[in-house]
Amino acid sequence: MRYHVLGLGPLGSLVAHHIRRAVPPVHAVTLLHSKDARLRHAPTSLHVQTNGVVTTSDGFTQETFHPVPNTKIDSLFVTTRAPSTLPALRQLAPRLSPQSTIVLVQNGLGVYDKLIEHIFPDPQQRPHFIFAAATHTTLFPPSNSSNSGTHTVLQPTVGSIEFAIVPDPFGRNFEAGFLDEAVHASERRPRLSDLATGESDPLFQHYRSLRNTVAALLLAEPLNARWKSMAHVQLTLRRKVVVQSVIHPLTAIMGCRNGDVFSSPNALRIAARICEEASAIYAAQIGEETKAWIDASDTDMGDSVLGLGRLPRVLEPPNLVRECVKASETTKGAISPMLSALRYGRRTEIDYLNGYLLRLGKLYGVQTTANALLYNLLRMRASLPIDLIL
Ligand SMILES: NC(=O)c1ccc[n+]([C@@H]2O[C@H](COP(=O)([O-])OP(=O)(O)OC[C@H]3O[C@@H](n4cnc5c(N)ncnc54)[C@H](OP(=O)(O)O)[C@@H]3O)[C@@H](O)[C@H]2O)c1
Repeated sequence: MRYHVLGLGPLGSLVAHHIRRAVPPVHAVTLLHSKDARLRHAPTSLHVQTNGVVTTSDGFTQETFHPVPNTKIDSLFVTTRAPSTLPALRQLAPRLSPQSTIVLVQNGLGVYDKLIEHIFPDPQQRPHFIFAAATHTTLFPPSNSSNSGTHTVLQPTVGSIEFAIVPDPFGRNFEAGFLDEAVHASERRPRLSDLATGESDPLFQHYRSLRNTVAALLLAEPLNARWKSMAHVQLTLRRKVVVQSVIHPLTAIMGCRNGDVFSSPNALRIAARICEEASAIYAAQIGEETKAWIDASDTDMGDSVLGLGRLPRVLEPPNLVRECVKASETTKGAISPMLSALRYGRRTEIDYLNGYLLRLGKLYGVQTTANALLYNLLRMRASLPIDLIL
């Protein structure tokens, strides 16, 4: 089994580090580089500093996108920023197959939709997909520090990774363990055996990489990876998109740390408007999805649909605002990735945060005036290097 990691920023390096330390050396962990030139500076070992303790991993293999010979990819952890993902996966697509597994570990929503629209339109030809939401915080040391350039990742906050598997187009129920009525509710757990039972499984080869990728995630204990239902992870991702659509552009426009963003009540008013709009969008989306599901079920659902299609409480506007304030406090010393991207002249993830909500608003006929204003302000800020001119 070979595990590939695409996107060797701080988060990708953290993932590669812990997967390498967790899986036996017989399985390769390969760092992917888009350009040949990068291979020369490729790290042979990685270091992670957590709570003052440094751990090291080594034995990585290195590859460009088009190695000779051109080998298939079994398992691919994608830790690029959202806007870089589609172009990178276009190049890697010939090396991926329905037997491969892709783990999307990044901020923003809408990347998967773009990948299936543009690269993997046929569900039966698509690799297995895992969605992951990470709450670890990681960064590279500042360029003037002694460990700069040593492939060290600083991890100021140890978080977790919640992940879920996209449902199988062939009908295998990956989440059977969550619902197994033969087991007491408190004992219900996801099971690797629901992915593939082992060599005796006639479809083992088709599901092998999925099973091994989930096993590797669970083995890498310091990642605190937790296998959840898709409904749970979708809720987490929906909430996260709103929180980041508030904090990231506001901190980027204002040039402040996360913890300072709500120091004036004006920011809270903006957050409240963005959260109201997002909540209305999700209510419309969940309503439509439920209606489509009931129509497709083709039976009289009677009372069993009570409660279905209702907006989960965590997505109600006051709860979303509370979540924004909490996130600003828990990451108070941090510089948001959007502010950092502006400072270094890099593309931001705005199209996968506020831009994603704008697209959904249009789709479901929900007004998104406040969000559109914030989106345009950020785009304006990104195109005007004011600080350099004045
Ligand atoms: N860092 C965190 O604490 C954290 C926590 C939770 C979620 N996230 C999310 O996770 C994602 C990655 O975070 P990050 O902080 O590691 O981001 P990052 O610093 O931007 O790193 C992303 C990496 O991907 C590389 N990349 C971009 N395009 C590529 C391509 N075509 N081929 C190969 N590599 C490519 C970049 O290389 P170049 O520099 O050459 O472009 C960079 O090394 C983002 O969506 C972020 O929002 C990060």
